[in-house]
Amino acid sequence: MTQVVTFEKHGDIATICIDNPPVNAAGHAMRQGVVDALDALEVDSDIKAIALYCAGRTFVAGADIREFGKPSQPPVLPDVCNRIEACSKPIVAILHGTALGGGLEVALCCHARVAQKGAKVGLPEVHLGLLPGSGGTIRLPRLTDTATTIKMVTGGAPISAEEALEKGVIDRIVDGDPAQTAVEMAKELRDGKLNARVTRDIPVELDATKIASARAKFSAKGAGGAVALRALRAVESATKPVDEALADERALFIEALASEEHHGLKHAFFAERAVANIPEAKATAREINAVGVIGGGTMGSGIATSLLLAGLPVTVIEMAEERVAFATKTITANLQGAVSRGKLSEAAFDATIGRLVVTTDMQTLAGADLVIEAVFESMEVKHDVFGKLDDICKDGAILASNTSYLNIDKIAAAVKRPQDVIGLHFFSPAHVMRLLEVVVGAETADDVVATGFALAKRLRKVAVRAGVCDGFIGNRILAHYARSTGYMMMDGADYEQIDNALVEFGAAMGPFTVGDLSGLDIGWAERKRRAPLRPSQERYVGVADKICEAGDFGRKTGKGYYVYWPDGSKTKNPNVAKYIAEEQVAKGITPRSFTNAEIVDRYITAMIVESTRVVEEGIALRPIDVDAVFLFGYGFPRHRGGPLCYADRIGAANLVERIKTYAHEDPFYWQVPKLLQKLADDNTTFADLNKER
Ligand code: 3HC
Ligand code: NAI
Repeated sequence: MTQVVTFEKHGDIATICIDNPPVNAAGHAMRQGVVDALDALEVDSDIKAIALYCAGRTFVAGADIREFGKPSQPPVLPDVCNRIEACSKPIVAILHGTALGGGLEVALCCHARVAQKGAKVGLPEVHLGLLPGSGGTIRLPRLTDTATTIKMVTGGAPISAEEALEKGVIDRIVDGDPAQTAVEMAKELRDGKLNARVTRDIPVELDATKIASARAKFSAKGAGGAVALRALRAVESATKPVDEALADERALFIEALASEEHHGLKHAFFAERAVANIPEAKATAREINAVGVIGGGTMGSGIATSLLLAGLPVTVIEMAEERVAFATKTITANLQGAVSRGKLSEAAFDATIGRLVVTTDMQTLAGADLVIEAVFESMEVKHDVFGKLDDICKDGAILASNTSYLNIDKIAAAVKRPQDVIGLHFFSPAHVMRLLEVVVGAETADDVVATGFALAKRLRKVAVRAGVCDGFIGNRILAHYARSTGYMMMDGADYEQIDNALVEFGAAMGPFTVGDLSGLDIGWAERKRRAPLRPSQERYVGVADKICEAGDFGRKTGKGYYVYWPDGSKTKNPNVAKYIAEEQVAKGITPRSFTNAEIVDRYITAMIVESTRVVEEGIALRPIDVDAVFLFGYGFPRHRGGPLCYADRIGAANLVERIKTYAHEDPFYWQVPKLLQKLADDNTTFADLNKER
């Protein structure tokens, strides 16, 4: 086994190298290794100065997140940082890649900091519901101003080496390999050409006005605000005597480690990465150099934008010239939006749009490596398109469908090469939303699945593998829990209260507002499609149909559950109360009131029930895959980790009890999934299932 930390002597200077792939996280072996190296070098009278650098792609990218929640093994990182700072010989940190969290904290207690061009430094702990726990909140404000400290500690985004230099966080930017730079900089430190300072000895002053305005801003923001506030409290301690301030920071860090936010955000961090672990991972992805998109409507235009932003040439096929013009206009506007959001440089705009062709001529797809179909949601239309693609596309081209609900195997039946057919289900707006469901059909080849995942990476999206069923993972679960909101509304809960309760829970928007935004006509068409399949025992709420029958489809028509006014405000649509009242009378329902907590409980329980079934049937590989779908595609509050992470907090036995209570009202809708019952009986969790699979 290679040693995680090694040191080398070069005459009267020494270099310490940390080599702990993939990201040099500050795990136990690294921490012990650094202390051992310092112990050896400090007593070596030959050595006058030391440089600390990392092998591989980055300087230390933080504490080892996998160790959180386990008993800590000494030396802990704060002690390692103090040990570095107290070293009688000057130490320079050589930063490359991303010096993040505990990594930057290690650098802050070195006596000088030099970064490679292109390096980034940051304190992203708040993204994990934490705060810097190894002196970052105390040492950073000694090197930089209050505004930069607040931005880095409470915002979590990394800053460039250039900004770090300008703000005093680092001392120099250099070009060159970290190992070589380490030798050079240690010599400069020895010769006094690089200034050595003990960070804790630098006087600190905080700008009270900036602290107060940050506190006011975070106090007004839910869970994210609470995390930032806790981090700000640590910064405020920085003016105390250093050891007292460090103790305050540590106490707050330990408090944060036990918080629900940390539990959820850590799960979300690993969910984003765990979903790449698929049975087809070993297959070699096919090369994708040119992509076709069929249909340039809402989704096709967004998908084309996303592909263009990733540097791919794209040919969009539309039905008629006016649709060609519409798609061209939409994609152009999307790219202009990307420029104004800073996602695309002005200089790159022309080249990006220059890679786009929009045409009615399907023959132009003959050379495409991948074609993504995003035409109307009709099996007949899809069959027609796939039949044509089968004739036109070259051998080995991947034929993908963006269908929301339809059966990929049935779509594949239209071609002679079902092994090349796959579902690539993007989410609206496709150039913004990070989720991509990769729907694997019965005959889809492994390398086609691997290509779907590789494409997602190229598009900076999170791919989740899904099996074939009506709506795959996300839309299938959505179709189920969305019904719970209709039931609550019909039983007496005000729909605005339902929206507000779920926003309070952490959703970006309530379900009725979302319905209005995405267009009530979509669900209406889907309900009509499913009508013949609807079981007779299923409770049906007709309010949404009534709204659509009146020609109100939500935001796009200015009216849905809410009326949207020209000044940007919205009020409840008075007709909806009438539709609800009429249906209550017709069905003999006596409305009752609901508390916000009850609304959230029912909604989340319904989501958990169908999520469990999706795992039970193997549509999702693991519970964590369902969590990723909801985190990256449906705006599930990140600090709650996803529906099945949240389910573990409630506990399987409690959920079973809840469902049985609700079942007294509606035994058809509220049924206990077998898997949930098993977890309750075995006293195990979804987290345990994640580990097993
Ligand atoms: N601890 C443990 N594992 C980590 C890790 C960490 N801090 N950071 C990344 N990893 C793992 C990932 O899980 C992944 O593992 P896998 O291959 O088994 O899935 C692997 O390293 C590679 O990570 P990425 O796929 O994310 O690689 P990228 O090159 O895309 O990104 C990165 C690299 C920018 C470093 C990104 O991984 C990242 O942002 N990591 C988290 C950094 C962070 O939050 N640091 C603060 C930790 S908390 C802390 O330091 C507390 C301190 O104040 C006491
Ligand atoms: P849309 O109606 O906005 O766009 C469809 C486009 O396809 C239209 O521009 C139409 O002119 C074009 N088209 C139809 N038949 C064609 C053909 N034979 N050849 C070329 N072009 C053709 O529909 P939208 O919303 O973009 O949906 C497309 C697909 O994406 C559907 O399968 C839908 O279920 C799915 N989807 C929709 C999402 C949404 O939020 N709208 C989200 C995810 C998937």
